[in-house]
Amino acid sequence: MLTSEPVFMIFIITCHTLSFAQISSMQKRTPADSMTMMTEIVLPNDTNVFGNLMGGRLMYWMDIAAAIAAQRHCNAPVVTASVDNISFENPIKLGNTVHIEAKVSRAFHTSMEVHLKVWGEDFTQQYKYKSNEAYYTFVALDPNRKPRIVPELVPESEEEKNLFEGALRRRQVRLVLGGKMNPNDASELKALFFK
Ligand SMILES: CC(C)(COP(=O)(O)OP(=O)(O)OC[C@H]1O[C@@H](n2cnc3c(N)ncnc32)[C@H](O)[C@@H]1OP(=O)(O)O)[C@@H](O)C(=O)NCCC(=O)NCCS
Repeated sequence: MLTSEPVFMIFIITCHTLSFAQISSMQKRTPADSMTMMTEIVLPNDTNVFGNLMGGRLMYWMDIAAAIAAQRHCNAPVVTASVDNISFENPIKLGNTVHIEAKVSRAFHTSMEVHLKVWGEDFTQQYKYKSNEAYYTFVALDPNRKPRIVPELVPESEEEKNLFEGALRRRQVRLVLGGKMNPNDASELKALFFK
């Protein structure tokens, strides 16, 4: 009986350690917890024939910045589930710096919406200009590559609260467009049109 006690104690400690780890990985997070800043410089190989940053290259960098933010939120590997409409407001010139800010704007069950803002910076003229904004959606995966539950997001600032509110509608738009939701079930969207 005495010899089995230490083994029993180790078993209990291991169980507790595991459950503490699981609990801590599911604790609520704020957008600041996932905040990710990426900085790049536009080199000749990144540009189109007009000497501007190619849209595809920018979307690639945005995908990486957003994936890092999503992974910071859920502490798990993620895959891109969808990318919302991106409109390029201002081109970013060869030699300019690109700043990408990514933060989780809402967490659902296994998916997270990440909000991105992009600026260009011209060092010689000393000014910064907004290039575009976008939303990417990521799904967290477990070791069997199946979707896994993500921690809740608690918005703090007024801007974060507005993004959080709007995320339900944006989710329904992308699920309807992706053929994953019946438009009749998109209650948030319908409420916009039928009061
Ligand atoms: C994204 C993916 C994991 C979803 O898997 P699935 O079997 O469809 O899983 P489910 O239907 O249970 O959906 C899981 C979550 O994904 C979300 N989702 C699925 N399709 C989506 C879409 N088109 N847009 C946004 N979210 C989507 C669901 O809403 C759900 O989120 P929730 O749990 O928070 O409600 C799967 O489709 C996949 O692996 N896609 C390829 C990802 C990839 O390779 N990306 C790299 C770029 S090609």
